[in-house]
Amino acid sequence: MKQFLSINDVPDPSGLVQEALALKADPFAFSHLGKHKTLGLVFLNPSLRTRMSTQRAAQNLGMDVMVLNMDKDGWQLEFEDGAIMNGSSQEHIKEAAAVISQYCDVIGIRTFPSLQNREEDYIEKILGSFVKYATVPVLSLESATLHPLQSLADWLTIEEHKKREVPKVVLSWAPHPRALPQAVPNSFVQWLKAAPVELVITHPEGYELSNEFTVGVPVEYDQNKALVGADFVYAKNWSSYNDYGKILSTDSSWMITEKKMALTNQGAFMHCLPVRRNVIVADQVLDGPNSLVIQQAENRTYAAQAVLKRLLEK
Ligand code: CP
Repeated sequence: MKQFLSINDVPDPSGLVQEALALKADPFAFSHLGKHKTLGLVFLNPSLRTRMSTQRAAQNLGMDVMVLNMDKDGWQLEFEDGAIMNGSSQEHIKEAAAVISQYCDVIGIRTFPSLQNREEDYIEKILGSFVKYATVPVLSLESATLHPLQSLADWLTIEEHKKREVPKVVLSWAPHPRALPQAVPNSFVQWLKAAPVELVITHPEGYELSNEFTVGVPVEYDQNKALVGADFVYAKNWSSYNDYGKILSTDSSWMITEKKMALTNQGAFMHCLPVRRNVIVADQVLDGPNSLVIQQAENRTYAAQAVLKRLLEK
């Protein structure tokens, strides 16, 4: 694998899930693979899980890790080719990505969308610029439109906890007071379409995700109907794709409660975290025995480790 920006970089997604499971069973089996190699983690946005799990994954492979909080500690980056840099940006991505490549053998980048300009976000301008000007493999730590490490960990978690061969997995929109990216749901759909699951999406009208990801996946606008018989309920808020970046509803009846979970097949609750308690999901569900959110976070380490292993082996 030369880079990891989406599932499209992975020839065998289910093979990668199995590799992550094997690493979870024996985390130090390849602890010499990363000797004398350095992973650079560049964050343009906050992170808890991605930062710590990817660091842990690299350490399990024997890598050194450098973390740069570009938004706080770095120079303000310019991404426009030919820009006259007499404004607030101080360093062009051309130099920044090339320079980081001198110190690191793999670069991980975390970016977020503007949620203002859909075209710019969906061409992955920032991630694409890092890829263009870096001279080492690039790993997405979440981009404007996708979060592949999260989705790989989610698939891994479903694989570990499924009670039947083809479980029903429901991706449910849930309310949130702020406009959030579509990266997690886009990516979840993209990965779970390749998994042995029955995937259903439910959201209020107006929250349709890009067709690019959802084609072939049933959308049920009645959340209660969608939840019937579900083995896994994956809750997530996202802002509108069509009315780009807008909050169209904060309808609290979409919050995942015990009553909603009672419609499922004793279903497990999933969320990528961080989660707003009693807005997205009720305490009783999040703290209940069927909540898998901590297991998902744990699996972030082995998802990242499987990806780093393949990048090192390339
Ligand atoms: N789920 C996730 O990516 O968490 P962080 O934003 O804390 O990394």
